[in-house]
Amino acid sequence: MVLQWSLFFMYICIKVTPTEASSWTAAVPSSVKGLLGSCVVIPCSYNYPEPQKSPQTFTGIWYNNDNQVICHSDASQTPAQFWSRTKLLGDLSKKNCSLMIDKLTRRDEGTFHFRIIMEAYTVFSYSKNKISVSVIDEPNPTDFSVQEEVKEGQTVSASCSVFHSCPTYPPSFHWSHSGEQHFQAQKLHDGQWKATSILMFRSNRTDHNKLLQCRVTYHGGKHQETSKTLKVQYAPVNVKVEYQSVNEGETAHLKCSSDANPVSSYEWHSETGALLNKGQTYTMSNVSRHSIESVYCTAVNEEGQDRSSTMKLNVLYPPDIRTSSKCFSEDDVVKCECIVESRPPSMVHFVLGDRVLQSTSIETVGSVTTGTLQTDFGSFKFVHCLANNTLGNANLTFLLPATDNMQNIFIASGAGVIVLIILIATGVGVVRKCRGRSGETPTSDLGTMKAERPVELPRYAPTKRKEDRKDMSCSDIYANDHLYGNTDCDESIYNNV
Ligand SMILES: *[C@@H]1O[C@H](CO)[C@@H](O)[C@H](O)[C@H]1NC(C)=O
Ligand SMILES: *[C@@H]1O[C@H](CO)[C@@H](O)[C@H](O)[C@H]1NC(C)=O
Ligand SMILES: *[C@@H]1O[C@H](CO)[C@@H](O)[C@H](O)[C@H]1NC(C)=O
Ligand SMILES: *[C@@H]1O[C@H](CO)[C@@H](O)[C@H](O)[C@H]1NC(C)=O
Ligand SMILES: *[C@@H]1O[C@H](CO)[C@@H](O)[C@H](O)[C@H]1NC(C)=O
Repeated sequence: MVLQWSLFFMYICIKVTPTEASSWTAAVPSSVKGLLGSCVVIPCSYNYPEPQKSPQTFTGIWYNNDNQVICHSDASQTPAQFWSRTKLLGDLSKKNCSLMIDKLTRRDEGTFHFRIIMEAYTVFSYSKNKISVSVIDEPNPTDFSVQEEVKEGQTVSASCSVFHSCPTYPPSFHWSHSGEQHFQAQKLHDGQWKATSILMFRSNRTDHNKLLQCRVTYHGGKHQETSKTLKVQYAPVNVKVEYQSVNEGETAHLKCSSDANPVSSYEWHSETGALLNKGQTYTMSNVSRHSIESVYCTAVNEEGQDRSSTMKLNVLYPPDIRTSSKCFSEDDVVKCECIVESRPPSMVHFVLGDRVLQSTSIETVGSVTTGTLQTDFGSFKFVHCLANNTLGNANLTFLLPATDNMQNIFIASGAGVIVLIILIATGVGVVRKCRGRSGETPTSDLGTMKAERPVELPRYAPTKRKEDRKDMSCSDIYANDHLYGNTDCDESIYNNV
């Protein structure tokens, strides 16, 4: 039965196909695909043999295969279930019978035909020009294209296109990247349209390996996404030397890194520009704190080149106490300065007798740390400086400046000295006693002490003769006794005071 009808229609079609301008024909596609939930527009134009008097009033009606009205040009005559969903888009008086069916459902699938009522002329059903509507659940895949690889700064042109059959509400495009957008609509056959969005932007290294996404939203809410990874070629940037601190005498491994596409090749240069090595790494064996030159690396690719900043190795070594370290007196105050060279900087402290003392102040300039100690050294002759860092330690013993103590004693016992001078000048008894007892007292430190002596010394010096040498030593020794211990002389003077 169906076959017979089909054959019948085919026969009709073949017979009617060579349409003349004024015959009862309608130009519609035989089938149109629509997206579920979206709209479908059936392009339609009809024709009729021109009557003597042109018709003025037109009424158009679309029927489904159950001969049910689905759309009436007088909307009030459209059944409720189609009322808000179907619409005659064209101008009937201009022979345009295009129909839109919105919010497409599965039940809309089927065949439709058009009927025209021309007042004061005739009524005609174009039942030979049936149109079949089919509903698809998902849109066809998006056609997405963008250059595989671009150079930084070049214009990227990406295009995203889809097919649809709802030209009234064409799909909207949303791009993941900003840029200039162009929209194109192209009419195809069978009610199909091709919607294309073209995005153009200047490529940037920040786009490299980023997804460029095109999102298409169809009327009705269905959407689909496609994306491609952008590949941007750019010259090296962020050229850096990576390395770790290395102990003196060991081997340093330097690595150069950069951000580039395609990957960089590397060269190493000394500060003066001399080529040291080619390759991403550079090895320096037996590094020393002194012999390290500054180096930099250069990264090169097809797009350009860049260099790192100049870097100096951080060579670590244990402390080395400089021989210029010393104890000295300044404004009657004894200070000990311990100058230590090391990397990383050392901790510096002092040992006085059995006490460990923190440095009074500590100053670090580059690899040099200076610890200063200022304290009451009492009667100690030596102080030790200890320096340590993570790699080791060092120590140095300082002789405390004895002269300074002596000077203090002289001032402190000024009265005693005056008494002593009086004694030297007037009485020989004490002196003799002293001479007798301290005849063999060592006088080794005399020279140094004299150099630092207060002005009192020349006062009695001229009065002395060579024989008085021992009297002199006696008083010197007295002063020195507080450092070196007791003598008979000391005792006697005290006794006399
Ligand atoms: C019919 O009308 C529709 C809607 O206005 C329009 O898009 C279409 O181009 C017209 N068709 C013809 C053949 O003029
Ligand atoms: C790449 O983008 C950054 C910031 O987004 C900009 O500063 C730079 O100039 C851009 N480079 C090029 C070549 O357009
Ligand atoms: C390492 O260098 C030092 C001098 O900087 C040298 O005395 C020593 O022999 C060197 N060691 C080796 C293994 O080359
Ligand atoms: C130095 O030695 C002291 C005492 O032994 C220790 O507490 C300190 O951590 C050491 N400092 C370093 C940098 O090794
Ligand atoms: C001082 O250094 C020497 C080696 O130079 C070492 O034998 C000694 O133990 C060190 N003294 C202290 C108190 O660290």
